Amino acid sequence: MTISNNVWNASKSSVQLALTSLWRALSFLRDRVLARVPRPAVFIALGTIAGAGVLFTVSSLVGVAVETWSRGDVQLRARIVLLSAKDQIEELARDPSPEAAAELQALFARLITDERLQAVGICEPDGRMRAPTSTMPSRLLCASIRRGKAETTMPIRLDSQDLLVSAFPLAEGALGHVVIVHDLTYAKARSDKARIYILAATVIAALLVSGAVGLAMLVLVRNWRTALRATLEDLRAGRVDAPHTEAALPAELREALDQYDLVRRTIDGVHIDWTPETLQRALGSELPGAEVLVVSNREPYIHNHIEGGGISVQIPASGLVSAIEPVIRACGGTWIAHGSGSADRDTVDAADRIAVPPDAPSYALRRLWLTEEQQDGYYYGFSNEGMWPLCHIAFVRPTFRESDWRYYREVNEMFAEAVVREAKTPDPIVLVQDYHFALLPRMVRNRLPKATIVTFWHIPWPNAETFGICPWKEEIIDGLLGSSILGFHTDFHCNNFFETVDRFVESRIDRERRSITLGGHETLVRPYPISIEWPPSALAGQKPAAACGVAVRSRFGLGEGVRIGVGIERFDYTKGIVDRLHAVDALLQNHPEWLGRFTFIQAAAPTRSKIASYRALQDEAVALADEINARHGTPDWRPVVLSIRHHQPSEVFELFRAADFCVVSSLHDGMNLVAKEFVAARDDERGVLVLSTFAGASRELVEGLIVNPYYAYDMADAMNRALTMPVAEQEARMRQMRALVRTRNVYRWAGQMLLDAAQLRRREAIETLAAGNIAALPRLLSRRMG
Ligand code: G6P
Repeated sequence: MTISNNVWNASKSSVQLALTSLWRALSFLRDRVLARVPRPAVFIALGTIAGAGVLFTVSSLVGVAVETWSRGDVQLRARIVLLSAKDQIEELARDPSPEAAAELQALFARLITDERLQAVGICEPDGRMRAPTSTMPSRLLCASIRRGKAETTMPIRLDSQDLLVSAFPLAEGALGHVVIVHDLTYAKARSDKARIYILAATVIAALLVSGAVGLAMLVLVRNWRTALRATLEDLRAGRVDAPHTEAALPAELREALDQYDLVRRTIDGVHIDWTPETLQRALGSELPGAEVLVVSNREPYIHNHIEGGGISVQIPASGLVSAIEPVIRACGGTWIAHGSGSADRDTVDAADRIAVPPDAPSYALRRLWLTEEQQDGYYYGFSNEGMWPLCHIAFVRPTFRESDWRYYREVNEMFAEAVVREAKTPDPIVLVQDYHFALLPRMVRNRLPKATIVTFWHIPWPNAETFGICPWKEEIIDGLLGSSILGFHTDFHCNNFFETVDRFVESRIDRERRSITLGGHETLVRPYPISIEWPPSALAGQKPAAACGVAVRSRFGLGEGVRIGVGIERFDYTKGIVDRLHAVDALLQNHPEWLGRFTFIQAAAPTRSKIASYRALQDEAVALADEINARHGTPDWRPVVLSIRHHQPSEVFELFRAADFCVVSSLHDGMNLVAKEFVAARDDERGVLVLSTFAGASRELVEGLIVNPYYAYDMADAMNRALTMPVAEQEARMRQMRALVRTRNVYRWAGQMLLDAAQLRRREAIETLAAGNIAALPRLLSRRMG
């Protein structure tokens, strides 16, 4: 019992082992081998194997049939020959004389003139062979031939020759048997030939059929793809037929369309080198024929009269301008903005347009004129005393005045009207910029319902509590939700916006899709981290970094070995300028070794000076710089240099290239492009970025020295680290940051928004169809396919 149990267990585990191994082998084959082979290849391989199997079987069967038929044929002929001479043979067989034998042999020799008979002889009842023809194989003995009372037949292989031996009884066997030997080589050759013919015919037929089918498929697929592509183009461009009543888009078609999108999205997911050309191509292929309109308060080129006559062109200090300008230069279109320069009216045509950039015009700048009251109410008042401090948590109290709000609405209306007038198509792409135009998206949507409105909010969006301060919060949210896409720099700001909408407006928020639907209209809310052009045009013509250092030292009267820190921006309270001056003070106190050996240059463009908080900041900064200079400076060395004026981009880049470090100490900032420009300016891979943790840029430029700008000691420490950082470390950090800014440039920023807009447009067109125009799609397709 025990033994049999052991045996049973042993065999059970062997079986289990064998099955497990087989299963593993099959799984391995499936996962490691088959899974790697493309599906069509598997199908083709299986099809070929099955086809070959069928072909082999058919040809073998045909071969066998032909061989059988040939044997029957041979036998029949032999029988006929024999019957014709049977009486004579029997008679001679009865005669045992040698003469009779000779006669028999002669008779048999005549019989085998038939090519399929090889030999004939008689097997006598005692087993001896009588009168065999000379062709009778010597090794064929009567004993090995089956003989009976009736005719018998047997195949024999002798000396590698296939023979068929038939034995016909004479007088029911009493006189022996006539033995006829057939050569089967003939039958075999015939069967082989038949097999080859069949194989060849089948292969030729298969080739012809598959060629014809392939050709037909090719034509069909090509027609289908052309039709699908053309239909999608129509959908994208909104060229769809009048609504139909059928209700649902055919599932396969929707799947095909989705697939089409999926392919695109996959391609987009792959790394793309974004350049002006890529952007142009993306626009051309994804938004064919689309008209681009930009709306912003600040214009990209300001014309001013200069003292003593003449007109100068100024590129304003604005992150918005430095980001949008290269984009519209690449795409072409019209930029609608406030004409704020003293010579702006003198430089436009009758329609208030001017082609820019001045040196190589590629788009139109359409200027709008504002009265002083409108500027005070809309620009200084609601935009910069209300929205700006509201969105930047920099502890400057926002001011909300009823009259400012009225002007804000009025100017938004004016710009919306200008968009409608400038639009040459019913569905332009309108790129709305910033907090000056929160109401405009809804206003444009009401007048141009098919427009794709992409609004970008260049500043932070605060938390819901803070935003709740605004008396017109619902109107602002409603205005923004007229957009097709609403972009912020970071996910954090998107989430703040979702929470604000959730708190104050009744709408449907879909966090997964990152969209908000209000009154049946859906707005996508997405992060698009803004950037700069790469390579920056201001870098062209720059001297080597060392030469920039020499030029800057001589311009600001600094000694030869004096190290340089820079800060460059508008004189805005959100930038933490005062805080960084406190940090310079702390640096000199904590590290006296820098006394006489380091100067901080603050270039600051005056901005919004009509506003008290801006004037106060400037006064405070000037006083603090004087104080620090008085405390630490000497007759021939100033620790702080303030350059309060507008600086052209080339000057800014020269300063960046001359610096040992650059400080961006924003108290709160959407992104901050100065940080990215500094990195872009340093093609020598030297210099250190000291960056506020409250600037959106700190999420991307993590190789900068990240600081808390509210803590002077922390910033002073970072400045000291920057001044003492080994060159290799500077290079390693700078290289990383440059790689990031190079790939995540402004063309990518715009490209991603435009690709999302394109996708949205396609989806909207399909949904229009789905809502009542479904039959149109198959019809369009079949019409195109003829
Ligand atoms: C920020 C804003 C821009 C603005 C720029 C300059 O970057 O986001 O919209 O253009 O500051 O300000 P200004 O008031 O001079 O246009």
